[in-house]
Amino acid sequence: MTIPVITIDGPSGSGKGTIGQMIARHLKWHYLDSGALYRVLTLQALKAQVDLHDEHHLAAMALHLPVRFVDSATHHRIFLHHHDVTESIRSEEVSRATSILAASPLIRTNLLARQRALALAPGLVTDGRDMGTVVFPKAKVKFFFIASAAERAERRYKQLQQLGVGANYEAILTELEARDLRDQTRPVAPLKPAPDAHILDTSGLSIDVVFQYVLEKITL
Ligand code: C5P
Repeated sequence: MTIPVITIDGPSGSGKGTIGQMIARHLKWHYLDSGALYRVLTLQALKAQVDLHDEHHLAAMALHLPVRFVDSATHHRIFLHHHDVTESIRSEEVSRATSILAASPLIRTNLLARQRALALAPGLVTDGRDMGTVVFPKAKVKFFFIASAAERAERRYKQLQQLGVGANYEAILTELEARDLRDQTRPVAPLKPAPDAHILDTSGLSIDVVFQYVLEKITL
């Protein structure tokens, strides 16, 4: 039996994670935040002081990454070994380092099987950069979200303020644009829409409007 998969790709801050989780809950399907896999690997490498350019070492770590996703009706928590790293993988340091590490073809290959193994009945909703192009090219419905860099930086700024973390809007915008460029120009699995993806610009749209748009396109 083929497990139905819905993919949402796009740059950070485009709303794909929020909507992906909402759709997964609505359908009662599994949810995979593929960026979290790359982030957990980066956190583990930073903790172990592994050189982020040591592709072979990192690729070996990727094969045995002790990551666990724990979902409840209201929460999505991420564990590295027994540590809850849901918040710590979102730091600016991890974000920057992750997009460097994610450019490695070897590391990406070693994370493929793990991502595909999460396509379990009754279905999977997943978000990332290459879910519709590389990981699940036969996905049933694909989306690609975009939003202006200014709005994405603004969302991130507000998010950090709510968390009580000091933040600088200009620094966030500069870092976000650098990260986009790295993700878009890497030779393997660059950030780009699949030819059959629904493309949506979420700038200025509320979460509810985006959620309704996505639901309407999902015909199962
Ligand atoms: O989506 P998120 O911002 O958490 O992703 C963090 C980083 O992980 C991205 O900047 C990108 O470099 C990498 N990533 C990737 N492929 C994915 C998901 C994330 O290369 N499918």
